[in-house]
Amino acid sequence: MKTLIINIKQLVQVEKAPRTWVAGDDMSRLESISNAWLYTENGKIAAFGKMEDLDRAALHLDDGTVEEIDATGRLVLPSFCDSHTHLVYAGSREIEYIDKIRGLSYEEIARRGGGILNSAERIRRASEEELYDAAYDRVMEIASYGTGAVEIKSGYGLDTESELKMLRVIRRLKEETPLLIKSTFLGAHAVPAEYKGRQTEYVDLIINEMIPMVSAEDLADYIDVFCDQGFFTVEDTDRILNAGMKYGMRAKIHANELACSGGIQVGVKYNALSVDHLEHVGDDEIACLLDSETMPTVLPGAAFFLNMPYSPVRKMIQAGLPVALASDYNPGSSPSGNMKFVMSLGCINYKMLPEEVINATTINTAYAMGVEEEAGSIAVGKLANFYITKPIPGIEYLPYAYTANLIETVFLKGEQYSSLKS
Ligand code: NIG
Ligand code: FE
Repeated sequence: MKTLIINIKQLVQVEKAPRTWVAGDDMSRLESISNAWLYTENGKIAAFGKMEDLDRAALHLDDGTVEEIDATGRLVLPSFCDSHTHLVYAGSREIEYIDKIRGLSYEEIARRGGGILNSAERIRRASEEELYDAAYDRVMEIASYGTGAVEIKSGYGLDTESELKMLRVIRRLKEETPLLIKSTFLGAHAVPAEYKGRQTEYVDLIINEMIPMVSAEDLADYIDVFCDQGFFTVEDTDRILNAGMKYGMRAKIHANELACSGGIQVGVKYNALSVDHLEHVGDDEIACLLDSETMPTVLPGAAFFLNMPYSPVRKMIQAGLPVALASDYNPGSSPSGNMKFVMSLGCINYKMLPEEVINATTINTAYAMGVEEEAGSIAVGKLANFYITKPIPGIEYLPYAYTANLIETVFLKGEQYSSLKS
């Protein structure tokens, strides 16, 4: 499959020499080419440049095998990388949404057996096939919103069999959908009802039974712990990450959503790929992150939906840190995987510039899920994962028009989709 896209009004986030991530002041810089072309071959980006420099003969573009698309008035951007989701789940939790409207907090709902435990009960009852079908629809839904790579966690099973069931669903999504997918084992999402009051024993089960079995089937790329007030302690997290490391699973953890929990520090101690949520971040946490290879990842949808304090993103960027933004798509705290809306929330609630939110949802999330060599920018040799917008004035219009669907065509691994929803 060969495709040439011509007359692109703006080809956004191009890189001659791909970077690992974008930090500090660089987050407000975005390399683009006006009046550009882009050529893809065998699922990869093969070349791009300015229209005036397009040499058709050199690229053998007129041999009848190349499909040509005229993108006049339209922008082309690399697909979003969504580095934090829980999109394998059964049922929905709109009843808790009403509880929240009536004033109950996330922690209060969790204490009453709602929240994660509510989803766990449903996951345990659901068949692998049912879970797959529902998750497949969600994956294709986010693809239609411009996402080309997604990390998906387990964590609603909370017993060995159900955690494995979730991870097998993710493995099938990796094999049967056109997106680039990474899987994360999150057995330590909550203490299941049958282990109430016996948290340490549940942590033992994760370490002695779940991690070895997940590893034996090679089901997880990463390991996660909800390290926060009322959930897993720093000591629990330390033990679990240590065990995961022995099986080659790098950490990506939930930290500092509900309090300055020590989660960031323990994540950095284990060289976590990312620490996520970060509503509670002080000078110590910033200093710790500055000295690390860990991507601070903020989940604006969850903070918006739960009405939580906003992470001090401007302070982190001013300190020189990179920041990534992901959706946290899940039935409890963020029932949306729309990364364009995440960009709007980044601009409105975190005072990020359009250039910053584009960097935060492409290059930086690619790093946060370990796919920076394959995705996250328009660069030769990366996957041809990108989207063509409808005719729009410029990049600012994307987060500004915050509910409009502005994506006209999606390309995943070089294949063109004008409609992805089933
Ligand atoms: O990332 N904070 C922990 N876990 C999820 C919420 C999961 C749920 O409520 O079902 C999150 O927001
Ligand atoms: Fe999460």
